[in-house]
Amino acid sequence: MQIAMDGPAGAGKSTIAKCVAKKLKITYLDTGAMYRAITKGVIDRGICFDDQDAIAEYAHQAVIAFKGDQIFLDGQDVTRAIRTPEVSAHTSDVASVPEVRKVLVQAQQQIAEGTDVIMDGRDIGSRVLPNADYKFYLDAAVSERAKRRYDELKAKKALDGKTLADIEADIEKRDYLDSHREVDPLVCCEDAHRIDTTAMTIDQVCDCLIEIIKKPKDEEAL
Ligand code: DC
Repeated sequence: MQIAMDGPAGAGKSTIAKCVAKKLKITYLDTGAMYRAITKGVIDRGICFDDQDAIAEYAHQAVIAFKGDQIFLDGQDVTRAIRTPEVSAHTSDVASVPEVRKVLVQAQQQIAEGTDVIMDGRDIGSRVLPNADYKFYLDAAVSERAKRRYDELKAKKALDGKTLADIEADIEKRDYLDSHREVDPLVCCEDAHRIDTTAMTIDQVCDCLIEIIKKPKDEEAL
């Protein structure tokens, strides 16, 4: 079974995807973490964000590996390092480089081959898994998404002096870049279930998805 989950930043995709993966006992793949890891490598190497050729060259040689909840870049554990405001602020730039997308989409499709998986990202239903058994598009009001991100960073003591207003502005900027880039922008596929999570708890969203997945296909068409 393949499940695609897309949506803007802070809509709850990774939390919900992890919950669904656990309930269905399938693999979860956080594709955003892969774009973040490449961005971390770009920053560490001092590569300029305008230098698409250098970014593309690095993406071809970077080695990304997952071990449980941890992500490794070129052998180094970068699980926490890819969640800093600096990496968050620049990942949209790196993710808009066509060659980076080519490399990562290929890697994601390879991981999905022959595996029951739920993947979250921006282009999963449209590009990575166009034939997914189920497609979901999670959304929420930008103020709610900013609050969730703020609380998450605060709990991790990773706010770096950012206010709630700063985070909302960052999210709006990222939404714009992710949905207006030329290659594989964020879209809600026609065949996706669109769910507004603004007023829903994690458990409610998770149960809603599981209900859709468990419903026989012929009932779904009614
Ligand atoms: O889901 P996230 O916030 O960790 O994603 C980080 C960035 O990566 C986000 O700005 C969009 C980009 N991204 C993407 O372009 N395509 C994906 N499949 C996943 C993430």
